[in-house]
Amino acid sequence: MPRPRLPLLTALAAQLAAGAVVFGAAFALTAGVELRPPLMALLALQGIGAAVLGTRFGLAQWWISIQLVLPSALAVAWLWQVPGWIFLVLFGLLVLVFWNSALGGVPLYLSNPQARAALAALLPQEAGSGETATGTKQEAPGEAVRPGVSPEKNIREAVRPGVSPENNIREAVRPGVSPENNIREAVRPGVRFADLGCGLGGPVLDLARRRPDGNFTGIESAPLPFALAWLRLRFAGLANVKVLFGDYRSHGLGEYDVVYAFLSPVPMPDLFDKAKHEMKSGSLLISNTFDVPGHPADETVEVADRRRTSLYLWRL
Ligand SMILES: C[S@@+](CC[C@H](N)C(=O)[O-])C[C@H]1O[C@@H](n2cnc3c(N)ncnc32)[C@H](O)[C@@H]1O
Repeated sequence: MPRPRLPLLTALAAQLAAGAVVFGAAFALTAGVELRPPLMALLALQGIGAAVLGTRFGLAQWWISIQLVLPSALAVAWLWQVPGWIFLVLFGLLVLVFWNSALGGVPLYLSNPQARAALAALLPQEAGSGETATGTKQEAPGEAVRPGVSPEKNIREAVRPGVSPENNIREAVRPGVSPENNIREAVRPGVRFADLGCGLGGPVLDLARRRPDGNFTGIESAPLPFALAWLRLRFAGLANVKVLFGDYRSHGLGEYDVVYAFLSPVPMPDLFDKAKHEMKSGSLLISNTFDVPGHPADETVEVADRRRTSLYLWRL
């Protein structure tokens, strides 16, 4: 079942529909046989009804939990005379988390560990391993920089001990090859990856740990997820991962070898156009779950998780 475009409105519609059925039936019971079901029982039934409808409409699991408890929780809060500012604070927090839900149609749900592992397996071994920006194919993976080996170790092992720096350089530089190409080929940067709308930073953090040779960037515009991602990355103490605050639509994609997005159907056509224009030849666009109408993916990877996640791949 595809996720709804506007989960907030879908959840509200499910509550209203369930409330109308439950309280309509209660009203009929009272009018017909003078039976008055307890209010809390009716609210619990409304929650169950809204959760069932939410599941049918494709709401994410955590929305279903909210649906289940919301009517009873509001009633309890009202009975206990919970101060109004608490609702204001809760509402403020929800806005900071679901910043992109109401207008952009992109809620917060996270790539699961299986999807992240599948993503890691799809990363090329080195930057621009397909075609380069100029259209020329790069050589097969080089021996100077070994993937999976830390940058420090790569450098240490590339430089031969006991050989003077001049000779090390002289032997690394291939005669008959232009200085630019010598430099380009001697310095083989690891894969450069961006997660557009990185949420809490799970995918970039996970990949940065798996691939110390790569560079990983998360971009997030919802304030609270950004703050949490930033904190997680800071405490992780990794040098090859960062998170940027802002809208990915105003961030150039030209520097990345792989761009990953787990958004919603709404932004996919525009994102595909942006990737086509900005990403260099040979790079990879990967979308979790959402394809692009009219542009079939070059490859689809089915992830063996409970959601049966599909990863759509376009080679640009
Ligand atoms: C479905 S979550 C995916 C989170 C993360 N990429 C993952 O896979 O675990 C989508 C995220 O994209 C963010 N987002 C939506 N539109 C965005 C935009 N235009 N710029 C930056 N972030 C955006 C949302 O705030 C949300 O955190």
